[in-house]
Amino acid sequence: MDIYEIIKKRRSVRSYKSEPIEEEKLNRIMGAALSAPSAANRQPIYFVVIKDEKIKRQLKNAYNGEWFYTAPIIICACSIPEKAWKRSDGKNYADIDATIAMDHLILAATAEGLATCWIAAFKAPLIKSILNLPPGIEPVALTPVGYPLNIPEPTYRKPAEEIVQTI
Ligand SMILES: Cc1cc2nc3c(=O)[nH]c(=O)nc-3n(C[C@H](O)[C@H](O)[C@H](O)COP(=O)(O)O)c2cc1C
Repeated sequence: MDIYEIIKKRRSVRSYKSEPIEEEKLNRIMGAALSAPSAANRQPIYFVVIKDEKIKRQLKNAYNGEWFYTAPIIICACSIPEKAWKRSDGKNYADIDATIAMDHLILAATAEGLATCWIAAFKAPLIKSILNLPPGIEPVALTPVGYPLNIPEPTYRKPAEEIVQTI
């Protein structure tokens, strides 16, 4: 699959088989995340790969969605703002760096035939305590990773004329 096919194939999948993920695939998708660029190469990122069923059950208090927990793995992408590059006006790029790494992971998972779904609607304080994140490490996004049960249809995108300006 070339990059355009992978981008086109990715969907937010909200139903998963419990079938485990091969370790080689998991290693490759984590490798893709760690290859991501970051501002000034600070790499202010941290990932938690959750396989433990007990922890997954606890996470139900932090994100409400039964489908989410049927996937064999949940990955939490985090940022470390104090390690990130800051623009001269003070803007901190930690969350952007974490998001780029997560997007690499998600596209790599798609290339491996795996499904994912970006999740931001979680209770951050609960995620921090359940995952025992050290102070200064902020959860940015979660995704389940697994084989899809149902692959949804593509969703609507705004036309280019509305969001692209060529000058
Ligand atoms: C940053 C971000 C946060 C998201 N958070 C959630 C979420 O909390 N729950 C959810 O079900 N989907 C979430 N989504 C998925 C979006 O709803 C989905 O990407 C969008 O509807 C487009 O559909 P598609 O991903 O299948 O192309 C999120 C997506 C992004 C990029």
